[in-house]
Amino acid sequence: MLYDNLAVNEQGHLTVGGLDTVALAEEFGAPLYVLDEDKLRENCRTYVQALRENMLEGSYPLFAGKALCFKGLYPVLNEEGMGADVVSPGEIYTALAGGFPAEKLYFHGNNKTDEDIAYALDSHVGCFIVDNHQELARLDEAAGVRGIRQRVLLRVTPGIDPHTLQAINTGRIDCQFGVPIETGQAARFVADALSRKNLIVEGFHSHIGSQIFEAEPFCDAVDILLDFAQAMRQAHGFVAETLNLGGGFGVRYLESDPVVDIPGNIRALAEHLRQGCAEKDYPVPKVLLEPGRSIVANAGLTLYRVGGIKTIEGYRSYVTVNGGMTDNPRYALYKAPYTVVPASRMNDAREFTCTVAGRCCESGDLIQENIQLPEMRRDDLLAVLTTGAYNFTMASNYNRLCRPALVMVRNGKARLAVRRQTFADLVACDL
Ligand code: LLP
Repeated sequence: MLYDNLAVNEQGHLTVGGLDTVALAEEFGAPLYVLDEDKLRENCRTYVQALRENMLEGSYPLFAGKALCFKGLYPVLNEEGMGADVVSPGEIYTALAGGFPAEKLYFHGNNKTDEDIAYALDSHVGCFIVDNHQELARLDEAAGVRGIRQRVLLRVTPGIDPHTLQAINTGRIDCQFGVPIETGQAARFVADALSRKNLIVEGFHSHIGSQIFEAEPFCDAVDILLDFAQAMRQAHGFVAETLNLGGGFGVRYLESDPVVDIPGNIRALAEHLRQGCAEKDYPVPKVLLEPGRSIVANAGLTLYRVGGIKTIEGYRSYVTVNGGMTDNPRYALYKAPYTVVPASRMNDAREFTCTVAGRCCESGDLIQENIQLPEMRRDDLLAVLTTGAYNFTMASNYNRLCRPALVMVRNGKARLAVRRQTFADLVACDL
């Protein structure tokens, strides 16, 4: 199957981490997010080891919390030697509530409010990734008031198009994140940052996009960043200690997607970086990466209960499930591909072409179109694979549907990590 932690048992049920998904849905209800903690840990180790073996000491991966964020995740990340990229005070709060060390938090955001800045400083986050001049000024002032010098990285845009979806591509010049190198603005950004008394500039950050399958776009970004770093050394005598190359390695949503060789890509990237530094006689910087999707996507799947089938004669057949765009808006938003499998009937022939629809009052509420399943019956269980990233975090309460529970699976045992919302939760903020 798509990943080695998935299998089919004697009853013809899908298993994840050795556990029967039908039993999981019976115990915890559906829809249900299932996260295989063993797979998650394996993914973390792949990054931690590859960075440790190939890059300068102090290089490590920061998990991008936008991909998945709940309290119980953070102790696991910490145990595995990960740092964390956080983009809001809510993510900071969640990480700290999960016992994550503040010094390993890297605070992102293209519009950090004064309250956000104050909250992050008072929480002692390790590093700010500063997006723009206004933030520099505010952060410098707020750090000064507190009598601290804050470590920062400066977010610049190298103008790379990694041939990915426009909507999830942030390395282009024309985007709202960071300051572009090509227009000369990033050079002024650096000059501004270096003039700030209360900031310690450690280096640069760039994020070029998502679902990238090879090292090449990252190597291109490194070339541009090194040229820029060299120019900044010549102009200001400033040497970047750290390069944060962002996230973006891809995952397999379909059998037809390539397998991404993370260690191989990191090795190639490290060689490229060393060579580039040698050519410029530039000290090799530490490297940070911010993987989100490639840490959690394939550790997760979602279980749905089938409600029924509706065939529109002459058109198509809809299989309706008891979740949808509320727990996974990615098809509605991006037409994102997923592999859907009949978790309760894995051995049945899949000869029924259908569209899986959610339960929201909206025709765009689809999970996947024109896929092959066995003829579905009410109460069958469907599993959508590779939903560990950007599903839970992008979920909503549209139509006042309760958000599903999230169960973590480890060593053949399941434990509830996030409970299902209740109706009382739905009105908890209503006055
Ligand atoms: N670092 C920065 C600065 C980012 O903007 C992102 C993703 C990441 C790291 C993590 O990238 P990853 O390794 O997960 O590709 N909602 C979209 C994805 C948006 C990603 C935005 N930034 C989706 O569902 O595909």
